[in-house]
Formats: sequence, structure tokens, C-alpha cells
Amino acid sequence: MIESVPAGSGVASTDPLDAGSPAVVVSGVGRIFAGKRAERAVNALEQIDLVVAPGEFVSLIGPSGCGKSTLLRLIADLDTPTAGTITVFGKSARQARIDQEYGIAFQQAGLLPWRSVAANIELPLELHGVGAAVRKARASELLELVGLGDFAEKFPDQLSGGMQQRVAIARALAERPRLLLMDEPFGALDEMTRERMQNELVRICAETGAAVVFVTHSIPEAVFLSDRVVVMSPRPGRIREVLPVKLGTADARGEALREHAAFFESVGAVRELLHGAPTSGALGVER
Ligand SMILES: Nc1ncnc2c1ncn2[C@@H]1O[C@H](COP(=O)(O)OP(=O)(O)O)[C@@H](O)[C@H]1O
Ligand SMILES: [Mg+2]
Repeated sequence: MIESVPAGSGVASTDPLDAGSPAVVVSGVGRIFAGKRAERAVNALEQIDLVVAPGEFVSLIGPSGCGKSTLLRLIADLDTPTAGTITVFGKSARQARIDQEYGIAFQQAGLLPWRSVAANIELPLELHGVGAAVRKARASELLELVGLGDFAEKFPDQLSGGMQQRVAIARALAERPRLLLMDEPFGALDEMTRERMQNELVRICAETGAAVVFVTHSIPEAVFLSDRVVVMSPRPGRIREVLPVKLGTADARGEALREHAAFFESVGAVRELLHGAPTSGALGVER
């Protein structure tokens, strides 16, 4: 597995045809939000180096305001770094967005209420000119994948929060991205639903082989899902530590894993890293 690289080491290929490129290379990245008049500028991220391998699941965890969402938005080209570079499969973040190299899912499912479930999933394909028959086939395939085969013609408000989030994940997968960017996608769900969704996501990742960058506040969630957990600290947002989680392949991650000693060990290790800051009193990890 590839660990973080020093800033400017230029490991990423710039050849878009290079299938050997890492999914994501973040190199020496900083993001300063300029303050207006009396406001101070916010140093949201500083010196971030991170490499995500194809098919790898990496979680970003840390207290509120440590720059997790900012980092994800930079990778998604929804924002631009003030320092450093980001490549996605060897391309600039911008080019990767244009080429639809990744799918995105946020805490709010963000479905269009006037469109059926299937039509919501088809939307990105429709926007990119994919024909109706292909769209329909892809939507039903994805609905099966997320366990909603019977719900194609329902509307979002007829579904529970967990089911809506499954639709959002299906939509993110519509264009077969090799990378998923997820910002607290299960944050609004109850604990039981949340664990079920985590099980589903592990299975979906195994089936699609997609790499994932996953933002969460939940230590058990990060440990259960990830190959590596990136622990961040705030002001300025930095990577404190990267913890490899050795809980076996995605296929081996069943419900029983949550009762496993290795699982608790990793949960303890992440917790220690999170609270091990000099300012630990101010570092409550919110849920
Ligand atoms: N558009 C913005 N303008 C100014 N400050 C911002 C903006 N976006 C985020 N920030 C600030 O950057 C820091 C990191 O924010 P964020 O990435 O949302 O943190 P997290 O997702 O870890 O809770 C916070 O201090 C936040 O207030
Ligand atoms: Mg956030």
C-alpha cells in the first residue's frame, strides 16, 4: 500500500491513459480562506500529503472544523487549493471532474423529489447524453446493487432516510466511477440503519472495486470501513497520523467483525490519536 509522499515528489503520472496511477495524490496542499475586512483569514488546511491507491478505502476523521470537508471538496474540484497540487488518476482535479472519474455523496441525499427513484439515478447519465434504454438498464442494475430492486418507480418522500441514502449512493455509482468521495453520508441516519449501510458499502466497494475517500465523525465507522484511517487535527488542519487498519479484505468484513478484538484495538488506537493532542480538552469528536 502506498503511504503519503513528500510534497512535490511528483509520483503521479500526468498521462491520463496510465492505469497505474494512484486514485488520488494530494501533495503539499494548503487552503487559506481569506477573511473579509475585520475577519481573520482561516488556515483550513496546511501541508497535506496523502496518496490513495486504486480500490483503497481511506477515511478522514477529526474534530469539527479540522478541514475534512475542505479536503474532500478540493479533491472533487469544488474548491481550489491555495498551495500544492492534487491529481485524480493522474489527471488534474479539474480534468478528473470533467471526465467523471468520481461519484460524490453527501450527508443529505439530495434527491430531486419530483423524480422517481430510477429517474434520480439516471440523472447524471441523462446529463451526459446516455440513451434511454442504457440508462434504464443501468438504473435497475444499480437498484439491485443497493438492495432497492422493487423501488424504481417510488418517489424519494416514499422512502426512509436510509433508503434515500442508498439511492444517492446508486446515483454516485451511475457512471462507474473508480473513486467515490463521501462526506458523512450516513451522518443523519440512526445507529442501526447506519451499521446496515456500512455493511452494504463494504459489499458495494468489493463488487465495484472503487476507491473511496470517506469523511466521518464516527471512530467505529471509520475503522469498520477503512483500509487506512487518516486522523486530522485543526487550526491549521493537518494530518496528525495515518493508521492502517488490518481487518482483512472487504469480503471478510461481516457483521461479526464488530465484535472482534482486532476491531476494538483499532478503535482504541484511533481514539488515542484523536485525543492525544496537546489541546485535547478542546478536541471533542462530535457525533
Ligand atoms: N467557504 C469558506 N469560507 C471561509 N471559511 C471556511 C469555508 N469553508 C470552510 N471554512 C473554514 O475552514 C475550516 C475547516 O472547515 P471544514 O472543512 O468544513 O471542516 P470539517 O469538515 O472538518 O468540519 C473551518 O474553520 C471552517 O470554518
Ligand atoms: Mg465537514
